[in-house]
Amino acid sequence: MVRENIYLVGFMGCGKSTLGRAVAKELNMEFIDLDKYIEQRSFKTVAQIFKEEGEEGFRKRESIYLNEVSQFEHSVIATGGGAPCFNNNMDTILEHGTSIYIRVSSTDLSARLINSSSVRPLIQNKSKEELISFIDDSLRERELFYNRSSIVVEATDRTTAKDIIKQLSKES
Ligand code: S3P
Repeated sequence: MVRENIYLVGFMGCGKSTLGRAVAKELNMEFIDLDKYIEQRSFKTVAQIFKEEGEEGFRKRESIYLNEVSQFEHSVIATGGGAPCFNNNMDTILEHGTSIYIRVSSTDLSARLINSSSVRPLIQNKSKEELISFIDDSLRERELFYNRSSIVVEATDRTTAKDIIKQLSKES
């Protein structure tokens, strides 16, 4: 039995939650979506937290609750896109489990985020051009953190939980 956690990291829209849920089901592990967990523990949506407390307030909560879920065992945890990049959170992740970077090209991310109906405060009011340059710039910065993962999955729309599990079993 895998006792340690599995963390999925990667940019907004890369598919962490969908793939994470499917991986957890296949491996018979618990699934935790960090953003949903933050919302439940805060009694506020992520959008409300950003509005009322700013990004700084959100990042504080994100670290607190990442530490909390990291005390669990045998869980697959889908993190928010910024989670590994603030407050030594990537160290917490690597201390408590295996990190998998779900890598999607910036072109594919732009297409997915333009078509997404999810509310994402950081990109909410951006035009298509602004969104593309935001993704390019922040992906470059954020990959420094994502790339500390021991597994990198080059993901497309066709990537499945089985592809991820195959890479996980090569690793162990
Ligand atoms: C964020 C990503 C979001 C959410 C918040 C901030 C980010 O999660 O945590 O809006 O900084 O990239 P998803 O990656 O699940 O969209």
